[in-house]
Amino acid sequence: MHYRKFGKDDIQVSVLGFGAMRLPLRSADPGDIDLSQATQMIRLAVDNGVNYIDTAYGYHNGKSEMAVGQALRDGYREKVRLATKLPYWAVNAPEDMDQIFAEQLARLETGKIDYYLLHALSKTAWEKLKGFNVLEWAQSKLDDGQIGSLGFSFHDGPEIFRQIIDEHKWDFCQIQYNYMDTENQAGAAGLQYASSKNIPVVVMEPLRGGSLANPPENIRQVFQRSGITRTPAEWGLLWAWSQPGVSLVLSGMSNLEQVRDNLRIAENYESRKMSEAEMKVIAKVKKAYLDSKAMDCTQCGYCMPCSYGINIPANFAMYNEAERYNNYNSPKWQYVNRLKDEERASACTGCQRCLPKCPQMLEIPDLLERVHKALKPQ
Ligand SMILES: NC(=O)c1ccc[n+]([C@@H]2O[C@H](COP(=O)([O-])OP(=O)(O)OC[C@H]3O[C@@H](n4cnc5c(N)ncnc54)[C@H](OP(=O)(O)O)[C@@H]3O)[C@@H](O)[C@H]2O)c1
Repeated sequence: MHYRKFGKDDIQVSVLGFGAMRLPLRSADPGDIDLSQATQMIRLAVDNGVNYIDTAYGYHNGKSEMAVGQALRDGYREKVRLATKLPYWAVNAPEDMDQIFAEQLARLETGKIDYYLLHALSKTAWEKLKGFNVLEWAQSKLDDGQIGSLGFSFHDGPEIFRQIIDEHKWDFCQIQYNYMDTENQAGAAGLQYASSKNIPVVVMEPLRGGSLANPPENIRQVFQRSGITRTPAEWGLLWAWSQPGVSLVLSGMSNLEQVRDNLRIAENYESRKMSEAEMKVIAKVKKAYLDSKAMDCTQCGYCMPCSYGINIPANFAMYNEAERYNNYNSPKWQYVNRLKDEERASACTGCQRCLPKCPQMLEIPDLLERVHKALKPQ
C-alpha cells in the first residue's frame, strides 16, 4: 500500500480508503448488511494497509456505522483512522447534534471520530447548520478530543464550494471527483482551490458510483483500441490518484473480489502519474460518453415553457444520463425526488404545442412517454 501525508498532523493515510456506503447485503433491504462478509472485506483491506474508513450516520439506513464498529473489533479500530458524518437533515435543534454524535460513538464502538464531516453540504445545508452554530459545537468536540479533525463533504456548485472553504479553517474536505465530473459540483476548480489553501481533498465516487467500472460497449471499445490492457476500474482509480491535490481515494467496494482487485490496483499504479498517452485515452473515453445521447436534446430550452409545467429538458437530461452510463439508479432517484409532479414526463397531455418549437425536431410527447416508462418508480 502507498501512503500520502494528510491533514494538520501530517498523518500518513493509505491512498485507497474504504467507503462503507455499498456494503454487501443479504436481501433487497439496504439495512440488511451481510455482516460476516462486510467484516471480512474491511479486515482484508486493513490487513493489506488500508487505514482510512469512511462511513456516515445515514448509510445503509443507519446500519453502516454499526457494521463498521463490529468489523473494527479485535484490535482493528486501533489500526485505522475513522471518518463519519453529521447528517444536516436530521438536525432540527442544537441538542440534536449531541444526540446524533453520542449515537455514532456507540454504533462505532469508539470514543473518538478521527475525521468528522458535515455531510453533503450544499448552500441550504450549510446555512441550516450554521443556524445551529455547528462550528462552535464541533470546536467543543475538537477541544475535548472526541473529534480529531473537522471537514465537510460536498454536493453543490463551484461557487458555493469556494464560499464554504473560505468561511472556516477546515482540516480537510471530500468531493465527488472522477474523469467525468471535472466540471460538475466542486469540480477541477474546487480541487485546485482547496489545494491552494492547503486543505487535503478526499475523493468520493471515483468510479461514479460504479458506472465507470461497468461502461456500455461503445466505451469499452475506446479502451480496447488504446492497446493498453486494463479494466475500466483500473483506469478510473489511476486517473483519480494522478490528480494533483488528491490525498486519498475512497472506494465503496461491495464484495471481496472488488476489495482484492482495488488493493492490487493501488499497489500497481498509485505511485506513478498518468502518461500523456494515457491521458489521451481518458479524453477519448470522456468524449465518447458525452457524445452518446439516447435523445438528441441539446438542452436549448426552446420547448419551454410547457403549457402544463413539464420541465422537458430536465426529463431528457435524466434519461440521457441513465443511458450514457447504462445505470438507471441515480436518474430514477432524481426523476422522483428532484422533479415536482407537474414537471415530470408523466404530466404530458400530448397537446403537441412543443413540437414546432424544437430545433432538433424531436417527437417530444413520444419521448416523454419513453422517459416515464424508463424512470418511473417500480
Ligand atoms: N459524503 C457524501 O456525500 C458521499 C457521497 C457518495 C459517496 N461517499 C463516500 O465515498 C465512498 C466512495 O464512493 P462510491 O462508493 O460511490 O465509490 P465508487 O468507487 O465510485 O463506486 C463504488 C462502486 O464501484 C464499483 N467498483 C468498485 N471497485 C470495483 C472494481 N475493482 N471492479 C469493478 N467494479 C468496482 C462497485 O459497483 P457495483 O457494486 O455496482 O459493481 C462499487 O459499489 C462511499 O462508499 C462513501 O463512503 C460519500
